[in-house]
Amino acid sequence: VFGPGPSGGNQRLIVVSNRVSVPRAGASAGGLAVALEAALQSSGGIWFGWSGETRTAIDADSLHTQQVGPVTFATTDLTRRDVEDYYLGYSNRALWPVCHYRLDLSRFNERETQAYFRVNDLFARKLAGLVGPSDLVWVHDYHLIPLGAALRDRGLTNRIGFFLHIPWPPPEVVSALPGYRRLLQGLAAYDVVGFQTERDVEHFVRCLEEEGLGTSEDDGTVVVGDRRIEVASFPIGIDTEGVAEMADKSVGLSSTRRMLASLEGKRLLIGVDRLDYSKGLRERIRSYVAYLAAHPEEKGRVSYLQITPKSRSEVPEYAELEREVATQVGEANGACGDFDWTPIRYLTQNVPHATLMGLYRMADVGLVTPLRDGMNLVAKEFVASQDPQDPGVLILSRYAGAAFELEGGALIVNPYDAVGTAEAIDRALRMSRGERRERWETMMDVLRTHTVNAWWQNFLAALSPAEDERSAPSSS
Ligand code: G6P
Repeated sequence: VFGPGPSGGNQRLIVVSNRVSVPRAGASAGGLAVALEAALQSSGGIWFGWSGETRTAIDADSLHTQQVGPVTFATTDLTRRDVEDYYLGYSNRALWPVCHYRLDLSRFNERETQAYFRVNDLFARKLAGLVGPSDLVWVHDYHLIPLGAALRDRGLTNRIGFFLHIPWPPPEVVSALPGYRRLLQGLAAYDVVGFQTERDVEHFVRCLEEEGLGTSEDDGTVVVGDRRIEVASFPIGIDTEGVAEMADKSVGLSSTRRMLASLEGKRLLIGVDRLDYSKGLRERIRSYVAYLAAHPEEKGRVSYLQITPKSRSEVPEYAELEREVATQVGEANGACGDFDWTPIRYLTQNVPHATLMGLYRMADVGLVTPLRDGMNLVAKEFVASQDPQDPGVLILSRYAGAAFELEGGALIVNPYDAVGTAEAIDRALRMSRGERRERWETMMDVLRTHTVNAWWQNFLAALSPAEDERSAPSSS
């Protein structure tokens, strides 16, 4: 679908994201990083973004580069001030909460708004010189919404696509953002704008229309001035076969044996999330406590493992949540536990991917109950990790993007409803093997086709110029 054009032109891929996964010896990359690397490997190209480092002053043209096979990893440092205002500020205290429907947790500030657009300009300045005339540019996530427009300002006429990994709310919510119109104009500067679900697409198209920036056509394209852009959903997937194999092999891991021994026959419920208020951790713990209150006979016979690596701790709302969840877990264990039973096992550390897949496979129930989530790949990995003969049950929030694909097999819950979620836990723990297998098969049918490779291939197929444009890249 893409790669060198018919003219033999060298069409490379340029991936841009705030964080760049430069491969490091001994470190295991996440599923998305592996997939994007696979995309880059197939055509050669560049992965560009922030190095994760800060320094006092940034030379406008300096870059760190590292060549790995056909892929160049190019990163830039940022000043401490830029990180505070662009990353911790506008990206994570304005865009993130608003896109997760949390106006109550958002904080707006003019300096940070300006820094956001300024850092995007800096990225564009550093990137522009690296892009060849027929390269495809693929920009990722909310940190970089204005990057396409900033590249256009520098004269780039390449095909440039954008994919938003998080939700896009309706105009009633998202219009509260400072710089709202400028964000929409930024998005309209891309050739392809991709979202996780059709719901996000609908919201975005309404935003464009209500602001008078675009008109949607029946073929799914949107006319913006004299240009036509494609706005579509590309639900992100996982390496389904790879995860299944990893989970299958986990039987031999010492972590699996230790965990099994510690369970002593108890039923296992598992939740794995970054420590983020969008994940519904407090509501989930409340639901589990409600389950124990409704089924006291199950005390001592179940165990709930919650793995929650700390995230964005420098953002005050996250630091506050860390304290709240820790307190809540302590209180629940104190009030519901016994001298020989801890109801909730709570970890705030990172756990290796292979260990996680093993834990998923052992679990009877996967609790994926975010208050809002773009997709949620834990839900998908949990399903793919199960033993086909004796699979566990997925309890999934209706507010996760994954619910659109997995509703046929998961128990869908409203995460705010503790009693309803507690009932779902009870139903999951009592479900017959026949029903579990049937539900699991339904979900696996989806996951076997909507893989992460299909995701990037579909996106790049949409982004690649039509055959007749290939030999003469457009210069309009
Ligand atoms: C979400 C976002 C990603 C982000 C990740 C981790 O998945 O969609 O863009 O990289 O969270 O957050 P962090 O702030 O640590 O990069």
